[in-house]
Amino acid sequence: MQNFIFKNPTEILFGRGMIAELGSRVSTESPVLLLYGGGSIKRNGVYDQVKTALKTHRVIEFGGIEANPRYETCLKALEVVKANNIGFLLAVGGGSVLDATKFIAAAARFEGADPWEILRTGGEAIHSALPLGSVMTLPATGSESNGNAVISREATHEKLALGSPIVFPAFSVLDPETTFSLPQKQVRNGIVDAFIHVMEQYMTYPSAAPLQDRFAESILQTLVEVGPVTLAEPQNYDARAAFMWSATLALNTLIACGVPQDWSTHMIGHELTAFYGLDHAETLAIVLPGVWAHELERKKAKLEQYGARVWNTKSATEAIAATEQFFHTLGMPTRLGDYGIRAEDAAEKVRARFAERKTLIGEHGDLDANAAAAILRTRA
Ligand code: NZQ
Ligand code: ZN
Repeated sequence: MQNFIFKNPTEILFGRGMIAELGSRVSTESPVLLLYGGGSIKRNGVYDQVKTALKTHRVIEFGGIEANPRYETCLKALEVVKANNIGFLLAVGGGSVLDATKFIAAAARFEGADPWEILRTGGEAIHSALPLGSVMTLPATGSESNGNAVISREATHEKLALGSPIVFPAFSVLDPETTFSLPQKQVRNGIVDAFIHVMEQYMTYPSAAPLQDRFAESILQTLVEVGPVTLAEPQNYDARAAFMWSATLALNTLIACGVPQDWSTHMIGHELTAFYGLDHAETLAIVLPGVWAHELERKKAKLEQYGARVWNTKSATEAIAATEQFFHTLGMPTRLGDYGIRAEDAAEKVRARFAERKTLIGEHGDLDANAAAAILRTRA
């Protein structure tokens, strides 16, 4: 096991009715900015619950944060933060709203000339941030309990991630009932995103971390078990709660402790969203089997272990096939062609971008632009 530092400062408030706890967690000293997306929170009653919980607070609102939140929109919110002397940011919605909120929190305290620097440096330029919290209405990203955010820049078709311990939410409210209104597609996306978050921290090479392996496999097994149930029965509280907690644990930094990580699928996937507008999870389901097939020899021991423990398969290739089959049972396509995208076109676009940025990916840090292109060519 490798050395690690584990610190997760986010308080999780999990379960029915927990939005009512908000009032005691948010200071009344300065105005609060409530950030939200396209309006789902107004249709499912979450907005009303939040307003009731904060009835003694001064609350200012900023709505309209898009899925794959845009840098340009975040800059508008930043003006509202500055004009109103905001002291706390409350994100209410999915990962996109929360990611935007993290970036805005950092940008509000950023002293440099151009806030894009925060993203260009992957978060290293963050030295301070406004405090923030969330009410998470979509189990998927794990953003509720980590220091990551992914922001898209419309003007240049870029999608960049930041990671910083300074933008962890102070708290996140997770009430599974707030997710009952999710469209099936978002539930499917959430299951696949959480599943692949586990994989990026697990599917590498053996590293004498048996407990981390078991944590990871238990999240995978839980998603395999409850995923189809929560898709078929959106109002089944127990299944939704198990799914929601799995998504949080998949990316709250716990399973990453002491193990090598491979974020290739996400790195390539972000480019597919930037170029073609696919949903985040849609890109991951396309890329993951390609990364595994490309890295079959180097990932063989873990693929076999995963296959044996999660699917009862005997070989690495069977484990890959079982995974792709699982995505299909959730209604998730796994090929570029399913979206009318030519594999050669995608491969060339991603190759050029990775080459320009000198991007290297994979747990050994040696997969270059050509490797990324080769992976995509196999996903026609
Ligand atoms: O905008 P509203 O109206 O709220 O509707 C949203 C949006 O259209 C809707 N929705 C959310 N909760 C709902 C609901 N509809 C009905 N009922 C509810 N309870 O769902 C749609 C998608 O929301 P979004 O926030 O975009 O989805 P998700 O949570 O999957 O977030 C995706 C973003 O997170 C990034 C992705 O790249 C993408 O930009 N990621 C963030 C990560 C992190 N911070 O750690 C890690 C991930 O790997 C990922 O990259
Ligand atoms: Zn993801």
